[in-house]
Amino acid sequence: MNTPSGWHQEGKATFFTDNAFYRPQSQVGRDLAVLAAAVYRRQNGQLRVLDAMTGCGVRPLRYQLEAEADWVWANEANPDHREVLERNLSTGMRPRSYRITHQDANQVFFDCYQQRDFYDLVDIDNFGSPSPYASTGMWATRLGGMLYLTSTDGRATGGHDPERSLQTFGAYARSHPAVHEQGLRLLLGHAMQQAAAKGFGIQPLFSLFNGQVHRVMVRLVMDPSWEAGCFGFIGYCHVCGHFQTVGWRQLGRVKCACHRYLATYLKPHPLVLSGPLWLGPLHDPLWLNEMKTLASGWGWSKRVKLLEIMQAEADMPPYYYPLGEIGRLGQIDIPRREVLMQALCDRNFRATLTHLDWEAVKTDATMAECVAIARQIQRK
Ligand SMILES: C[S@@+](CC[C@H](N)C(=O)[O-])C[C@H]1O[C@@H](n2cnc3c(N)ncnc32)[C@H](O)[C@@H]1O
Ligand SMILES: [Zn+2]
Repeated sequence: MNTPSGWHQEGKATFFTDNAFYRPQSQVGRDLAVLAAAVYRRQNGQLRVLDAMTGCGVRPLRYQLEAEADWVWANEANPDHREVLERNLSTGMRPRSYRITHQDANQVFFDCYQQRDFYDLVDIDNFGSPSPYASTGMWATRLGGMLYLTSTDGRATGGHDPERSLQTFGAYARSHPAVHEQGLRLLLGHAMQQAAAKGFGIQPLFSLFNGQVHRVMVRLVMDPSWEAGCFGFIGYCHVCGHFQTVGWRQLGRVKCACHRYLATYLKPHPLVLSGPLWLGPLHDPLWLNEMKTLASGWGWSKRVKLLEIMQAEADMPPYYYPLGEIGRLGQIDIPRREVLMQALCDRNFRATLTHLDWEAVKTDATMAECVAIARQIQRK
C-alpha cells in the first residue's frame, strides 16, 4: 500500500523507499517467506535472518515485526541506500537487533562461513539467475535452516535461451506449455545438485511463481542421500501435447506412444527433453499446513486459499496442461476448468488447480485422455 506522504505499508511494516528497490507486486513472495519464518521461529525457538539483498529493508522489518526474528543482518550492495535503510530499520525495529552492511552478497556468505556464524534463514532476492549465489548462500545457512532462492530469468527458464539455462542451471531447458513449473524445478534441481556436491541435501518447503518471478524456500539438511529419481528430465511431445518424466537410464530411448492412436503409419515421435531438473514434490504439505494455520489466525484469507492450492498440487505430476492447449489439440472450445476437473475425477483421475497457471489443470491423465474427456463434455 502506498501512503500519500511517500511511505509504504506492507504487513506490519511501514517504510520509506526513496530510490531503493521495492516492488509491491512481489508481496506474495514476502508474505509466504514471513509465514515460513514464523513457523520456523515457533518450532525452533529462535530465528536469525540474513537478508542478503535487502533493497529498502522491507524484509528485515517484516521478519522482525511479524515472524519475531531475534536478529537480522540486512545487506545491500548499493551504499547509496544507507540512509533510507537506517531510517527504516531504526524506526521499525528493536535497537541492537539488526545490522546493516553494504557488501557483495558472496562476500557476506564467506564471512559468515569464516566466522562460523550460520543463519536460520538466508534470503537471496537477486535479479536474474540464482546461480552466482545459490551454492555460496549455503555457506551461511545453518544445517536445518532455510534458504530462499530467486530466479527472474524467464528467458532461460522458459526455454527461449537453452544455452543460457545450461550455463546457469547446468540444465537444457526447452519451450513447452508448462514452463512456469519448469522454472521452479530448474531452481530446485540446481539447489539440490549444489547441496549434494557439498555433501548436503535440500528439502523443498514451498515453491512459488507469482506470474514473473520464481522463488523456492528449501531446508538445508545433513542427509546427503541422493535420490536419482528426484533429478531427471521432462519430455514433451509436440504432436499430441503429452508430458512424461524421463530417468537417466531411459535417455536415448524415449518416444511418445501417440502414433499408436493418432495414425499407425506414423513413426514413434521423439520427445523434446528438458533437464536435468527436480522431479520431486514442489512443496512440503505438512509445512504448508503450519503456514496455513498461521495465515488463517492472522486473517490472511487470500494466502490461505493459495496455500490450499499449493497443498493439493504438491504431489501431482511435475507438469500441467493449459486449458487452451486442450482446446487447440482437440479443435474444440476451451473447456471450463471446474467442469473438466470434475469429469476427470468422475473417471478416477486425480485433478487439481495449480497456482502456476489459473487457466490450467494438473492431472495424472494423459493429454489424449484430457482431450477425449473435453470432447465428450462439449458434445453433451
Ligand atoms: C530485487 S532487489 C531486492 C528487493 C528487496 N529484497 C525487496 O523485497 O523489496 C535486489 C537488491 O539487491 C541489490 N544487489 C544486487 N546485487 C547484489 C549483490 N551481489 N550483493 C548484494 N546486493 C546486491 C540491488 O542493489 C537491489 O537493491
Ligand atoms: Zn505424442
